[in-house]
Amino acid sequence: MKKFYITTPIYYVNARPHLGHAYTTIAADVLARYYRVQGWKVFFLTGTDEHGGKIEKAAQKVGKSPQQFCDENSERFKKVWEELNISYDNFIRTTDPSHIKAVKKALEILYKRNFIYKGIYKGLYCPGCEQYKTESDLKDGKCPDHQIKPELIEEESYLFRLSRFENILKEKIRTDELKIEPEQRKNEVLKFLSQGLKDISISRQRVRWGIRLPFDQRLTAYVWVDAFLNYLTGIGWEGDPKNIPEFWPPDVQLMSKDIIRVHATIWPGLLLALEIPLPKRLFVHGYFTIEGQKMSKSLGNVIWPEEMIGKFGVDGTRYLLLSSCPFGQDGDISWQKLIKKYNADLPKGLGNLVSRILALAEKINTNSYLREKNLSLQQIQNVNLRKEVENTWQNYKRSFQKLKLNESLVWIWNLISFCDRLIQKERPWEELNKHQSIICDLLRVLKNIAEMLQVFLPESSERILDQIKGRKREKPLFPKL
Ligand code: MSP
Repeated sequence: MKKFYITTPIYYVNARPHLGHAYTTIAADVLARYYRVQGWKVFFLTGTDEHGGKIEKAAQKVGKSPQQFCDENSERFKKVWEELNISYDNFIRTTDPSHIKAVKKALEILYKRNFIYKGIYKGLYCPGCEQYKTESDLKDGKCPDHQIKPELIEEESYLFRLSRFENILKEKIRTDELKIEPEQRKNEVLKFLSQGLKDISISRQRVRWGIRLPFDQRLTAYVWVDAFLNYLTGIGWEGDPKNIPEFWPPDVQLMSKDIIRVHATIWPGLLLALEIPLPKRLFVHGYFTIEGQKMSKSLGNVIWPEEMIGKFGVDGTRYLLLSSCPFGQDGDISWQKLIKKYNADLPKGLGNLVSRILALAEKINTNSYLREKNLSLQQIQNVNLRKEVENTWQNYKRSFQKLKLNESLVWIWNLISFCDRLIQKERPWEELNKHQSIICDLLRVLKNIAEMLQVFLPESSERILDQIKGRKREKPLFPKL
């Protein structure tokens, strides 16, 4: 049986989940559902990144212990994912004792294999990114993502010999053995690698909230090293490079452009040093801005998933996020744009087609000759309509292979428009008896549409299928706003 292992980044628990986190997680959910429907063995991993100075400070600020703070905030992620119908197989927390144990083991191995050595590390550190920055990363001396001036840190440190893997990484990325998509992101990573890879500090002297280094208890592990290993511990790895869980390696790792560089360097570097196979595909989706601006609490323009669910429902939110921009490209959204798209595509588009077809089916006695097994694609009598549905399936599947999730949706909505036009042209309500065959065909197409939508809009798809079975209209699937 084919397997499919997909991951999202593990999100920092210093803030509650926002629309950006929801976007990645919904996309991963759609892919996981898609491969489950194909009959593959699927593992979908998400979770929270809970160590490091940033979390330590955020907890302090609200007067909570870091553990209590993490417990509360990771629960918020879980709750929103539940509301959004996210079908993850495991939700990993980096404070899980089994994760901590495995990370310590891995660090011990890297130390024994001489991939970690003691030295002095000096660099410009952005606490927002929890990353060292180079001068060229900064804009007007500040981190462009966090608008803070990085601190110059010089401390005794343990370093990881990342520089050893510069050439091998270049080669694996260039040849797509480690595939980075879209192409633009791959080229950016290759350009970065061409400037040379330096060894990196993997320990922290000042951060107490982290995993203690097994070979020097005074220091904690760099949060990114701890975090990366979640992709292994989340499927049950216990820290032994010779004992790798069956789902390994990841087939797709989703993320946005903010963290591709570390995922294309430190992450595979750690794996190479541990002699563990690399992930197959790193896919970088776009970044959302709100009316042209970075989403930020201080600007007060953050859109929270709960707000979207309140307005558009769970499936409305899932649809709007995935269809707002081509998967892999940046997108800009606003409440106004979202409402407009919602009305056009859901109540007026899909919802309207469902009620039109069911209203027609109610009027004729379809039950007598349209049993369940007769609702398949092959039973569609109208040749043009059948071809259209077959083409849609093909394009839908092709788009999934390329991870062009928004394109799969476009193909479904093209089919919806095609049916609308056909109904408009045939006007079956004028002479119902003469049009029995086309009405049955339309029911069959609707069943196919619901099947395609199953992975995107699980609840609505089920409701449509139930209505087709009962040949009965319920209240509208999507209220107009
Ligand atoms: N904890 C690290 C990841 C460690 S993975 C080993 C981290 N966390 S994060 O909370 O900042 O999440 C970053 C990720 O959230 C992005 O890569 C992306 O998947 C998602 N997004 C956050 N903001 C986003 C937008 N504005 N737009 C789209 N996705 C965004 O980095």
